[in-house]
Amino acid sequence: MSETAVSNTVAAHTVASASDLTKTYGTHDAIVTALDHVSVNFERGKMTAIMGPSGSGKSTLMHCMAGLDTPDSGTVLVENLKVSSMTQKQLTKLRREQIGFIFQSFNLIPTLSAEENILLPLEISKRKIDRDWFNHIVDVVGLQSRLTHRPSQLSGGQQQRVACARAMMSRPSVIFADEPTGNLDSKSSGEVLGFLKSSVQRYNQTIVMVTHDPRAASYADRVLVLADGRITNDMKEPSYEEILAVFANEGSDSSQSTQKDDAADDASAMQKGSHR
Ligand SMILES: Nc1ncnc2c1ncn2[C@@H]1O[C@H](COP(=O)(O)OP(=O)(O)OP(=O)(O)O)[C@@H](O)[C@H]1O
Ligand SMILES: [Mg+2]
Repeated sequence: MSETAVSNTVAAHTVASASDLTKTYGTHDAIVTALDHVSVNFERGKMTAIMGPSGSGKSTLMHCMAGLDTPDSGTVLVENLKVSSMTQKQLTKLRREQIGFIFQSFNLIPTLSAEENILLPLEISKRKIDRDWFNHIVDVVGLQSRLTHRPSQLSGGQQQRVACARAMMSRPSVIFADEPTGNLDSKSSGEVLGFLKSSVQRYNQTIVMVTHDPRAASYADRVLVLADGRITNDMKEPSYEEILAVFANEGSDSSQSTQKDDAADDASAMQKGSHR
């Protein structure tokens, strides 16, 4: 079908890329290599999950990609714009227009309503608000009846859906999400992941998402694993079981298999295991 042909052509296009990225923190004997020559391309209309142990460089990679942190060397491109050599003013413009960021801690303004939070980035940058798109997004995230509520009057899942709607509002080229379901229970996680996945499928949104949760990662089209600042696995459309297997193989102790069993139980309980 022609629609498929078009989406395949678009999907082959790289939206964001890192090339030979390095980042160290500290000096002398206290030096930490957070990113060790990382090169990766992110394609339009795909959802990529980034997994890996604590301290493996996941957040550092996201921050460098989004222009929130500066690499020591290497190049970051977003829509063919060289993020790694932009001035602060250029970075601000890029982040407002091309990049959405979703944090684990939601980062909503407590004194503003859900609607005001969603529209804030556009208000700040004095951009025109597309009401039809706003209504549509609110409809998709299921927040119609919560728009006048403040964050404290919303559940964690609802707050994160506000943050997702805020990230989608400017139709960014790419959304970076750092453990977007890290503070959510499994039901709310399912809602947020379902929304992110639908934005990929319906609007060709590009999403790069850090997660520790194999269930969350199984929503993705691709799963990258980082260890010690390097990409050690790059899996295309892995199943939940394939993702589990990577971590089971890496760990030799019994805690890994316990985690695996727990996760498998969760998966069957959730009834959400069949994303593909
Ligand atoms: N501002 C900083 N100053 C010093 N070291 C830092 C800083 N930020 C990160 N690091 C170090 O860089 C390494 C990578 O950190 P990063 O936050 O990217 O890990 P992560 O994979 O996101 O971990 P987590 O899963 O715990 O969030 C860690 O060893 C961390 O301690
Ligand atoms: Mg992190």
